[in-house]
Amino acid sequence: NNNKFIFPKGFLWGAATAACQIEGAYDVDGRGLSTSDIHKFEAGLNRRELVEDEHTSVSLAKAVADKDGYYPKRYGNGFYYRYKEDIALMKEMGFNSFRLSISWSRIFPNGDELEPNENGLKFYDKVIKEIVNAGMEPIVTMLHYDIPLNLVTKYGGFRNPKLIDFMMRYGKLLINRYGDKVKYWIPFNQINLIQYCGFKSLGILRDKTENFQEDQYKAIHNQFIINAKLKEFAKKHNPDIQIGIMLADCTYFPHTCKPEDVVFTMKRNRMQYFFADVPLRGEYPGHMLRFFKENNININISEEDKITLRENTSDFLAFSYYYSRTLDAEKNTMDAASVSDNPYLVGNDWGWTIDPLGFYNSLSQYWDRYQKPIMIAENGFGHEDVFEEGTVHDDYRINYLKEHVLSLAEALQDGVEIIAYLTWAPIDLVSSGTSEMSKRYGFVYVDLDDFGKGTGDRFKKDSFYWYKKVIESNGAKL
Ligand code: BG6
Repeated sequence: NNNKFIFPKGFLWGAATAACQIEGAYDVDGRGLSTSDIHKFEAGLNRRELVEDEHTSVSLAKAVADKDGYYPKRYGNGFYYRYKEDIALMKEMGFNSFRLSISWSRIFPNGDELEPNENGLKFYDKVIKEIVNAGMEPIVTMLHYDIPLNLVTKYGGFRNPKLIDFMMRYGKLLINRYGDKVKYWIPFNQINLIQYCGFKSLGILRDKTENFQEDQYKAIHNQFIINAKLKEFAKKHNPDIQIGIMLADCTYFPHTCKPEDVVFTMKRNRMQYFFADVPLRGEYPGHMLRFFKENNININISEEDKITLRENTSDFLAFSYYYSRTLDAEKNTMDAASVSDNPYLVGNDWGWTIDPLGFYNSLSQYWDRYQKPIMIAENGFGHEDVFEEGTVHDDYRINYLKEHVLSLAEALQDGVEIIAYLTWAPIDLVSSGTSEMSKRYGFVYVDLDDFGKGTGDRFKKDSFYWYKKVIESNGAKL
């Protein structure tokens, strides 16, 4: 054994996916278009200078009408047709949990219908049954970057309070239908990542907003309200259900020990903690109210909203962790996308650094701040794999994951309550940020390229056998 620490009995080991990155079948069984369907793959993209998908009404209409471009998230990795095979592979690795998301536009194709699409629901009936039968705890995200497109064009996305009703209808339906099988629910994937995901997670078109920042925070406020109301609903339905809030961890380090860097970093860090402070503590922190005032952001938080938030705090904090960044008070701004590199760390082709100590730091910071159970909703290493003789020798992925599991063990020894460790991802899938297939994360290789060419067949990588051993030994053999 190379890890002396014994993980708690019943610790959840597994991995995570998103509907729009795996399912494909975008126009099958009545599914409507979503924000993910118009993220085109651009050959020759600069992997280090990514501008995440932003849209105007013109670019959106162009993408919908485009007959020549390749839109990988419409096709995913074929999970819609191969889910049994994929779940069997996860079972073989010994998973006792699997995080997946449900595609809203499969259930309500336009998002605003009164009645759901039964054919869409039938697919998830089968998938959830398969997961449970394989001995895994399904962990379900309700919205992972795929808003029904009609809610963007007709209603302007989440800044419109009507989306509270639409998403409540969808969320209540899911809880009613699957609440006896699914204990852990994450209504919104990475709720804080608004700097990159104004379109795909909030549904805001840049030409339809006069004050983008204000609209972003209005949309977030509506998502906070939905999160709280779903918690209220779930508890009445079945008190065992756990509703989580999820962050993409962006805990920064000061670039130097200059007091200016240290204080600036603290301010930026609390700007991202804010996205968990409201759902976990039940109120807006004073520094954010000041930020709103000084930046012409008017959210209109009603007394009723304040009560809803206060009385329905989330049960757990889920977060994804990939890399760390630093902040330099002279070079960086309060814009969350403005960051500096850490000269002490190396990264992958996309510049995502390897920093397992940063992971330990984040786990500790969150626990000290909230004292609520933590779920590692994603952790993984994107790499261009070499497929040879039916497999991939991905020691770089094994090393990355091993170091991060050791950080997990450190945090557990400090008493941090951790529910689950879910890697990104069980199987290769389409990249969220770049729509590439060649940014691979899986334990299982999928024979598809960036243009969807290939058989789609699945092959076990070296990391498959490594993770199997980790799970079998409950974290003792890394
Ligand atoms: C997280 C997302 O931000 O990071 C996933 O929740 C995503 O959807 C993952 O796939 C990795 O990002 P990328 O851009 O490498 O796919």
